Amino acid sequence: MEKEILEERQGEILVQESVSKNTKKLFLESYGCQMNFSDSEIVASILNGEGYNTTTELEEADLILLNTCSIREKAEQTVRKRLSQFNAIKRKRPNLVIGVLGCMAERLKTKFLEEEHLVDLVVGPDAYRDLPNLLKNTDDGRNAINVILSKEETYADISPIRLGGNGVTAFVSITRGCDNMCTFCVVPFTRGRERSRDPHSILNECKELVSNGYKEITLLGQNIDSYLWYGGGPKKDFSKASELQKATAINFAQLLNMVAETCPEIRIRFSTSNPQDMHEEVLYVMAKHDNICKYIHLPVQSGSTSVLQRMNRQHTREEYIYLVDKIREIVPECAISHDIITGFCGETEEEHQETLSLMEYVKYDFGYMFAYSDRPGTLAHKKMKDDIPAEIKSRRLKEIISLQQRLSLERMKTYTNKVHEVLIEGTSKKSKDQWYGRISQNAVVVFTKTEGTKIGDFVKVAVHDCTSATLIGKIA
Ligand code: 5AD
Ligand code: SF4
Repeated sequence: MEKEILEERQGEILVQESVSKNTKKLFLESYGCQMNFSDSEIVASILNGEGYNTTTELEEADLILLNTCSIREKAEQTVRKRLSQFNAIKRKRPNLVIGVLGCMAERLKTKFLEEEHLVDLVVGPDAYRDLPNLLKNTDDGRNAINVILSKEETYADISPIRLGGNGVTAFVSITRGCDNMCTFCVVPFTRGRERSRDPHSILNECKELVSNGYKEITLLGQNIDSYLWYGGGPKKDFSKASELQKATAINFAQLLNMVAETCPEIRIRFSTSNPQDMHEEVLYVMAKHDNICKYIHLPVQSGSTSVLQRMNRQHTREEYIYLVDKIREIVPECAISHDIITGFCGETEEEHQETLSLMEYVKYDFGYMFAYSDRPGTLAHKKMKDDIPAEIKSRRLKEIISLQQRLSLERMKTYTNKVHEVLIEGTSKKSKDQWYGRISQNAVVVFTKTEGTKIGDFVKVAVHDCTSATLIGKIA
């Protein structure tokens, strides 16, 4: 189960599969959400054009970049520790350039250069195109910073270099930023205003992935269901769009339909859905296409309407339940997962119990559970008191985790004694004789390798057993 109770992803070193004639070496480590990992692929692509190839060897790096996460304090602490290790290397090799990218760069801005004396480069999530220029400054021994947020940047024309992958599953980012302003969340401040990417560039990227042998695409956005394209400009100006633009606008359901139709032979996933923006139309598109995986990540954060109000979530407990009922009705085989924050400002024992009862109602397949972490700059930080003692947060967190473990096991049992289509993603970490892959509902399956099967194959697997985190099967 530990795998399901993921904190942010920790420092994965990303390298490209093929190596060109480039001579300079980039050590690129990423933390946090899928969006950050997807951004690292854009950064690698930009720097590939500047003579850099990625490396896993710190010793040979000319440039170290850390793509960072600010979502919880712990994520930032991890990055600071890592930076001090890199700084020790830089003391011995002063020509080494160290840069911080992503949300922490955006949040701390020049503070980074002041506090962490050995950081040379600070670049926010919307400024990666400026990296070549910024690196010229560092070549001259100067520090360089660009943390300007953009209302338009989507990196639509940059073809990401797929890093650290299996050549089978890939992310395609379709929106950037978030306008929701949940009071606990730093994302609107670090990733800026929400904007959607040109559908043609999305479809082209998907087609290119298919022609390169990819078998699964996950469409990514902080708030994916509010995708809206009407010929450019941020979503908020839709009221100012012309009649023609309004008539030809493309929403997420339409985009999802287009991707599913354009790429019939591969699987499509998407993340993250926010309850207030998820329309029934998306559910009908999911039901219509076999190649859209039956899985929705639907963060709820709390099961209590009063907490949801304090969080400035734009839905109540009842509205969330209504949406879950709709999902069960329109896409009955759909798996649902959640994000829950426990111990938010003023959370009472009754409100905590409402979260537990909501979890029981929904019967989530799995979830990502966090103790509330007060983030400077957020509305909660400015207006509310982080008043739930650490021991209570931790006790409540344990309660929701153990409930989720039980629910996960119950859900996993419903997948046993059935045959599922599975995409083989790699060799199981526990045994080299076993493949691992996922069923449509996103649950991981392990099964013994048989002759002729390889990574990227779709196979039928008969599942006969499970734990709360893994299905166990045999090729049928
Ligand atoms: N403290 C704890 N968890 C948080 N998240 C976002 N901000 C915070 C915070 N300040 C969680 C939410 C969100 C997920 C990506 O991270 O559950 O959905
Ligand atoms: Fe943060 Fe809320 Fe936006 Fe998610 S929807 S990124 S939690 S502000």
